[in-house]
Amino acid sequence: MSYFEDAKVKFDALRTKKDVLILAVESSCDETAIALVQNGRKVLSNIVSSQIDIHKLYGGVVPEIASRNHIKNISDVLEESLKSAGKSLEDIDAVAVTYGAGLMGALLVGVNFAKTLAYAMNVPLIAVSHVHGHIGANYISHEELEPPFLCLMVSGGHTAIIDVKDYCDFKLLGSTVDDSVGECFDKVARVLGLPYPGGPAIDKLAKEGKNAVKFNYKAPFHDTFNFSFSGLKTAVVNFVHNKQQKDEAFSKEDIACSFQEIVTDELSEKAVAACKNFGQQKLVIAGGVGANARLREKLSAKCEENGIKCFMPVLKYCTDNAAMIGAIAYYYVKAGIGLADLTLTAKPTVGI
Ligand code: KG4
Ligand code: ZN
Repeated sequence: MSYFEDAKVKFDALRTKKDVLILAVESSCDETAIALVQNGRKVLSNIVSSQIDIHKLYGGVVPEIASRNHIKNISDVLEESLKSAGKSLEDIDAVAVTYGAGLMGALLVGVNFAKTLAYAMNVPLIAVSHVHGHIGANYISHEELEPPFLCLMVSGGHTAIIDVKDYCDFKLLGSTVDDSVGECFDKVARVLGLPYPGGPAIDKLAKEGKNAVKFNYKAPFHDTFNFSFSGLKTAVVNFVHNKQQKDEAFSKEDIACSFQEIVTDELSEKAVAACKNFGQQKLVIAGGVGANARLREKLSAKCEENGIKCFMPVLKYCTDNAAMIGAIAYYYVKAGIGLADLTLTAKPTVGI
């Protein structure tokens, strides 16, 4: 039997197997991550090797440098992940990997590593969407959480409201028509001279500022569940440049705070409005911007006011990690989707 014929038989058998141990690989951006996850909810290990300190020198992720560092680090990350879980490769039922969306070169490192592992261990290979992974992060943090629910997806690559009808049944209700919210945080941080990644830096600085700056901006798309952030980004950039050209003083703290208030109002109001519109009482937050303290605070308060139960991942599962990939991969297995053969390649963009 060929590798893939055997993998198909094993994959089918996993649908009814009681305990399923998945080794998950994530390398879509600048984190090299490998996790071992049992039954989609129990994280046995979650090793994330961050390249932030390297990319900080350039003010953002340099794709080629990210790929090279994934290659350099990935074997050590595997070793550490197995050790930390107290498992060996022989214990693994399947290998899951993020195949997209993300940086092509970065993704390819993880995909080829995962293919090699799956082939060597003769286990099924599961191709996972990074966005689905971010949603899966919530199954780790909330053992009682089950679909259906609405998801507010806020990452560096995506900003969307998604109807999660079932574990593997997703419908896009609205998304950004231009920049993602993460990109907007990163751009504003850059114009303020804050270090990469900009989101956490703004989150921190905003705590010391006042909501006192009026930008030349009006939020568009009030009657849909779409978002737009490029206008706000431009308004903040213009505000700062204007002050600099006139040699006028400005408070970075107040700009960070005022910008963050607009963004978090927009996200939390639209997410709650979507829940009300679609009669959904569960809202799930996913993606790196979900770590934002003010967004978490506003969503909790607005959801409570409206009788909506709000679920957010613990902070370490908001930003990129492999445990979230292992979590959703378990539900791919149960739904019988995602089985890949050895021709699997990376995709820079993937639909919801
Ligand atoms: O989900 P993620 O780790 O990667 C992608 O899939 O894109 O999201 C990264 C984004 C970056 O833009 C980063 O600045 C932002 O999430 N981010 C934050 C915070 N932590 C990370 N944005 C606002 N506040 C934070 N605390
Ligand atoms: Zn991500």
